[in-house]
Amino acid sequence: MSVENYDIVGGGLVDLKSYADQRPNVTIKSTNITRVAHRVPMEKRWETNGHKSGILWLTGLSGSGKSTLAFALEQNLHRLGYQVYVLDGDNMRHGLCADLGFSPEDRAENIRRVGEVAGVFARAGMLVITAFISPYRDDRRNVRKMEPEMFHEVYVKASVDVCEQRDPKGLYKKAREGQIKEFTGISAPYEEPLSAELVVDTASNSFEDCLVCLMDYVEQKFGMAPVREGSTKVRSVAVAATATTPAD
Ligand code: ADX
Repeated sequence: MSVENYDIVGGGLVDLKSYADQRPNVTIKSTNITRVAHRVPMEKRWETNGHKSGILWLTGLSGSGKSTLAFALEQNLHRLGYQVYVLDGDNMRHGLCADLGFSPEDRAENIRRVGEVAGVFARAGMLVITAFISPYRDDRRNVRKMEPEMFHEVYVKASVDVCEQRDPKGLYKKAREGQIKEFTGISAPYEEPLSAELVVDTASNSFEDCLVCLMDYVEQKFGMAPVREGSTKVRSVAVAATATTPAD
């Protein structure tokens, strides 16, 4: 390239090394392995449980309300007889993902592992609710690819400003002070979903309304014609009850 009659006042390098798309995919190291088929069809499991199974994948910034909504939803659905379980970022990072940090590579591996676990639960007939920032579209797309029929992306939407004002764990403050590196929304990116199945805006709606919205979605997508006597009736009563968030 030649530049004539101009002063060059700056320059830079474009380094894509840590960008999500550049990360290598996992390759299977084991040899001599063969898949074995289950003898219990998924529909039989659904009949037993009284609802369909799948993955409700909650994504959003730290402080957006993912975990609070996920655990309240789990509690409500459990009361209705759903086989339901939450996989939460902070919890999984104490165990299965304890060896991972917050670099793009580690977040990819975090989401891959959790996606695999969620898939196992879903194929076992359960409704899995996951609460992970999962900031990269690529990582979320990869989980969707694992279980395309069962994956439901839910964007728990609140801006950085709103989450920073809430700052329930004091992490935004620490991130601003430079005590936490690669903090999502401050010094690491969050790629908003472009076509989530459901958007729950926690900045402009009450917690109760967001919860009812999620309950309705679950009813619509995972509810089945009653296979157990009275199950529909129980459900509709409990959905109405969520509006007042009853204590246990
Ligand atoms: S993810 O990006 O890999 O999906 P995950 O949901 O598992 O993240 O964990 C996010 C939680 O870890 C946050 O709710 C917060 O409590 C904590 N955390 C600690 N350091 C960071 C960081 N650098 N960025 C975001 N969250 C962090």
